[in-house]
Amino acid sequence: MNLDITVLPGDGIGPEIIEQAEKVVLAIAEKFGHKIQFTHALVGAVAIDETGKPFPDETFELCKRSDAVLFGAIGDPKYDNDPTAKVRPEQGLLAMRKKLGLYANVRPVKTFRSLIEKSPIRPEIIQDVDIIVIRELTGGIYFGEKGRSADGNTAFDTNLYTRQEIDRIVRLACKYAMNRSKKLTIVDKANVLETSRLWRETSQDIVKDFPELETDYMFVDNAAMQIIQNPKQFDVMVTENMFGDILTDEASVISGSLGLLPSASIGKLTSLFEPIHGSYPQAKGKDIANPLGTILSVAMMFEYAFMLDTESKFIREAVSSSLDNNFTTEDISDNNPRKTSEVGDWIVNYILKKNI
Ligand code: IPM
Ligand code: MG
Repeated sequence: MNLDITVLPGDGIGPEIIEQAEKVVLAIAEKFGHKIQFTHALVGAVAIDETGKPFPDETFELCKRSDAVLFGAIGDPKYDNDPTAKVRPEQGLLAMRKKLGLYANVRPVKTFRSLIEKSPIRPEIIQDVDIIVIRELTGGIYFGEKGRSADGNTAFDTNLYTRQEIDRIVRLACKYAMNRSKKLTIVDKANVLETSRLWRETSQDIVKDFPELETDYMFVDNAAMQIIQNPKQFDVMVTENMFGDILTDEASVISGSLGLLPSASIGKLTSLFEPIHGSYPQAKGKDIANPLGTILSVAMMFEYAFMLDTESKFIREAVSSSLDNNFTTEDISDNNPRKTSEVGDWIVNYILKKNI
């Protein structure tokens, strides 16, 4: 296949981890006979520095025209430490999600056999966990009206959802759940928030179209506790933007590191693939960041955007094998940490050597 991929390294460790992901894409292409066209573009703090805009129009046009977008990370301490900054790198990420219509962020949370013993959670609790969190990505408090009073002492962010926005994401979650174990947990805060009551009301209507589906409604505070105490009860979870952001960072503890979790953002235009972690500025340029979340995002790209399941399985197997061999970065390996680029090389080598 001819695959045209827009690559957005972004900020912090973004370029280092994306470099490994690109190597993996090329190795897979060589192995399976695909032709890859990478086009690099700007987003985030680097884009502000060069163009004044966090998500330049040129980047948007490229993303729209390509078969998939591979994205690293966004964020820079010079903006984090300046709450008065008018233009912020994160606006680039939000604009990108909004303009590409990427309303669904699919975040799988799984355990890896070689990491079970290293988790701060007891092995019997996390063994065989296999959850998909579907996070709504273009609505809610991230995008609602926000502002300050004239004296600057009062601030507000609005959480806003329409029935239509809830409908499309919950429906998608129902379909995911139907293809798995037919169990869906809908997470909200309907005891307090009006938006959550609309989520629940809308969801109750939609699930009638899926009579075989077992649905469960859970308040987000309870879900935050249950996901650590008894994660095996969950299969597919669906929730609003902000709750999904928080719950998935929390759930990454089950996998063993935030650096391991991939995601796919899907919606109206080109799908985008990104690790769930941020730009980790303290590690920038040090070649120590974990590239596996991004490499597993590449696996999701082959599966979701290109429908190439064998390629995707190949990548996942290579990642598991690197972990089994303790050939991994310092966030996981305590006795013999490897560099970001070494892990990338190891995985590439595994792919090239293995028989199809
Ligand atoms: C994520 C990140 C982003 C978000 C940040 C960088 C704006 O935390 O993708 O989970 O909050 O969505
Ligand atoms: Mg997050």
